[in-house]
Amino acid sequence: MAERIEVLLTEEEVDKRIQEIGEQISRDYAGRQVHLICVLKGGSFFMCELAKRITVPVSLDFMSVSSYGGDTKSSGVVRIVKDLDEPLGGKDVLVVEDIVDSGRTLSYLLEMLKSRGAAEVKLCTLLDKPERRVVDVNVDYTGFQIPDEFVVGYGLDYDQKYRNLPYIGVVKFD
Ligand code: IMP
Ligand code: MG
Repeated sequence: MAERIEVLLTEEEVDKRIQEIGEQISRDYAGRQVHLICVLKGGSFFMCELAKRITVPVSLDFMSVSSYGGDTKSSGVVRIVKDLDEPLGGKDVLVVEDIVDSGRTLSYLLEMLKSRGAAEVKLCTLLDKPERRVVDVNVDYTGFQIPDEFVVGYGLDYDQKYRNLPYIGVVKFD
């Protein structure tokens, strides 16, 4: 099926907001080191841009969980595809996600990370679709709250496409 992309948030808007969040995180973590955990693949673009704007010491790790197939609907099934390289003991963990939708993935992931002995586990998401929430998730830093539309760009994909768009767009099926 042919689809087209409508711009929802421009590159300038996204960059400006990431700068603001980076400044906020730098203030909140003053005197500490923040351990960023990127949820692949969607969180990768956001994490790189965010990490560059954080002025306290940063360490990084990556994990991949799967809750979606090649469709736009959540399956509700969460599976660890790639686990972290480093142990979490005593670390101030900040999970960096592309989007919180139903909340299923994040609620599972946050509980799992807490059980691994992190000093603290917080969540930073570029996008949040609050209308879609099925499972309650406490979001500490949000880039933008957006309406219930399927979005792509800045790491987010539709069937593995469009992750490289430097802006956030809505997928339209005509
Ligand atoms: P949740 O478990 O329903 O909150 O889904 C979280 C994951 O679903 C995100 O990390 C994305 O990978 C994917 N997802 C949810 N909404 C969208 C969207 O609008 N565009 C692209 N991926 C999405
Ligand atoms: Mg994701």
